[in-house]
Amino acid sequence: MTALRVAVIGHGKLGSIHARLLNDSEDFELTAVADPVVANRKLASDTFNVATTTDITELMSVFDCAIVATPTFLHHQVAKTLLENGKHVFVEKPITATLDEARELVALAEARGLILQVGHVVRFDHRFEAAKQFIRSPRLIECHRASGYTFRSMDVGVTLDLMIHDIDLVLSLVDSPVTAIQAVGTPVIGPHEDVAHARLTFENGALANLSASRASYQQVRNLQAAGSFGFVNVDFLKDSITTVGVGESLRQLDMDPVTATEAEKQDITARFFTELLPRNTLTPTPCNAIAEEHKDFLMAITSQSNPRVDGETGLKVLEIAKRISDLIQNEGSADQIGIGGPHFNSSGSLAERKSIHRSGVRGL
Ligand SMILES: NC(=O)c1ccc[n+]([C@@H]2O[C@H](COP(=O)([O-])OP(=O)(O)OC[C@H]3O[C@@H](n4cnc5c(N)ncnc54)[C@H](O)[C@@H]3O)[C@@H](O)[C@H]2O)c1
Repeated sequence: MTALRVAVIGHGKLGSIHARLLNDSEDFELTAVADPVVANRKLASDTFNVATTTDITELMSVFDCAIVATPTFLHHQVAKTLLENGKHVFVEKPITATLDEARELVALAEARGLILQVGHVVRFDHRFEAAKQFIRSPRLIECHRASGYTFRSMDVGVTLDLMIHDIDLVLSLVDSPVTAIQAVGTPVIGPHEDVAHARLTFENGALANLSASRASYQQVRNLQAAGSFGFVNVDFLKDSITTVGVGESLRQLDMDPVTATEAEKQDITARFFTELLPRNTLTPTPCNAIAEEHKDFLMAITSQSNPRVDGETGLKVLEIAKRISDLIQNEGSADQIGIGGPHFNSSGSLAERKSIHRSGVRGL
């Protein structure tokens, strides 16, 4: 099979990882990199000996598909241009900055028969894949994600930056519509919320609590799910996951805990996490989740099938993320909107800052 010619648009932190993995892959031929920053283009041409440009429309003839890893507010503009030129598009998460933009991309890809994939990479994480085999109709999900401030993705709040990963995971685990959302959050450093908590209630009664912070001294990436299947804990910073299943011995246990004798209680306690609720540590084989995303992109293009995270999915995830960030932004009084954290020193007037906050794009 001939390698698929691919371009990377935005050679920053994520884009350079995509470019390296695509360059290393036999399935792809990296033929173009676009970035307005000279140093980023130079790094790409020095590392990969690839054509570079500030304007991707100049190199449209040299690639068949593209990875969009620009700041979020540019996803729509860049992806739209690519789709209009007949290119399959993998756009980093979140799909776009606004719902209307996402809807337009989904409709455009559909109308042109092109693949539109969204970079919700944790779906391809080996720990999540292993946990998913175990989770059946979860009733309770807890997700915590925290890191320090990176000074990237400042055009969006932590909900669209980090929490969106967990929103995607939760929606992929719960097969029921979201019926209610509660959320609180606050800016700490930048103009948007840097800390956010949200609770999603689903029609089937399931509940998901999500917390995300990019103002944390600690790095945390954790998912826990519980239901009649048992309990699972995924620590994404380690290479193992813990499962607690409901054992056959527990199902067959014929004992009333209220009237149980002391000896019976001791016997149960001794067998608790071995037989009754057997606890296991799984060590799934590590893989590079971004390389797995690329394989899925390739498969979708070559077989004209849906990628695991298609544009429609990215849109649904963004809908929930937007409802959360809207709740957070509307929670404060009018005067608080757009002021940002105590260290956010905007030179604009309050009116300007409000408009910056609402558009989500500084300096436009
Ligand atoms: N999947 C993940 O886990 C994950 C992690 C981090 C970031 N992201 C997403 O990836 C995207 C990029 O994030 P990042 O952290 O790499 O940011 P970054 O700031 O490091 O990189 C963005 C790059 O885009 C370039 N750029 C700006 N305007 C451009 C244009 N018009 N055309 C081409 N390039 C342009 C910038 O010069 C920069 O090099 C964001 O949407 C972000 O949400 C995803």
